Amino acid sequence: MGEISLKGKHLLGLQGRSKEEIELILRVAKKMKKIVLSDNKKHPLLKGKSIINLFMENSTRTRSSFELAGKYLGADVINISKSGSSMAKGESFRDTLLTMSYMGTDAIVMRSSEEGAPLYATKCVDPIIINAGDGAHEHPTQALLDMYSILEHKPTLEGLKVVIIGDIMHSRVARSNIYGLKTMGADVHLAGPRTLVYPELEKLGVTVHHDVREAVKDADVVNVLRIQLERIHSALYPSNREYARIFGINKSVLENAKDDVLVLHPGPMNRGLEIAPDVAYDDASVIQEQVRNGVAIRMAILYLTIIGGDGSELAD
Ligand code: CP
Repeated sequence: MGEISLKGKHLLGLQGRSKEEIELILRVAKKMKKIVLSDNKKHPLLKGKSIINLFMENSTRTRSSFELAGKYLGADVINISKSGSSMAKGESFRDTLLTMSYMGTDAIVMRSSEEGAPLYATKCVDPIIINAGDGAHEHPTQALLDMYSILEHKPTLEGLKVVIIGDIMHSRVARSNIYGLKTMGADVHLAGPRTLVYPELEKLGVTVHHDVREAVKDADVVNVLRIQLERIHSALYPSNREYARIFGINKSVLENAKDDVLVLHPGPMNRGLEIAPDVAYDDASVIQEQVRNGVAIRMAILYLTIIGGDGSELAD
């Protein structure tokens, strides 16, 4: 248990990450959640460390939860956006990274519209790079918090039928979930229109469906993804109304799933498009818990990558 260490390791994605590494993160996050729920959230494991949140794409949940995670653990945290930085005046991404590293930064949490931007950053500078979402590539901390949220209600991920529905083509959340869930032994299914869920995805060891009612049959978990309207520039489905009618997740569709099905959505939601409002707030929904668990997962990631260890110094 004490042999695995993530100290000094970048978190670029879940592809290639071992089951033991994922289990370590989930185990430490469980302890971090106790801090998040406590009256005194300050636990200065990262005292004296500095973290920069470099967000070159918009974010509410990921950016604020990384900021809170760092602050709860006693680190100094600052946020930089593309529009508020000298990148807006033409400074290159590489020079921006170098400038941050000259300031003695321990970790850079990065969101970018460009796939591979975090990998590129690891070639340019020394601080630990944590991917907070790069284009349609990966969003590892989202998948980790999704798995954590499932495990609060299910004893194991092994053998669970998890159906990921919607805009898979543009989704970094889908990719990280597929890699993580497959590593943890889940039975992963994808569903949505042919233009957003293409058969080649089966090479990742998943089952592809184009009929959501058939896909959710006997599902343990339904993870509904946002239609990424900002990345869709051509007609990939007839209209939002048609999408909601054919592929939207509502109570009627969920009747095909298991009685104790869990509904997840990474947020932000297009209510009434990919998910019906009454489903988002139904007892089966763990969407609010996902947001809370995001802080705990990000605390675990910052602690494990910057300090290392196995969390044994934290209370059970
Ligand atoms: N799920 C997610 O990444 O949300 P934000 O874009 O608000 O960070």
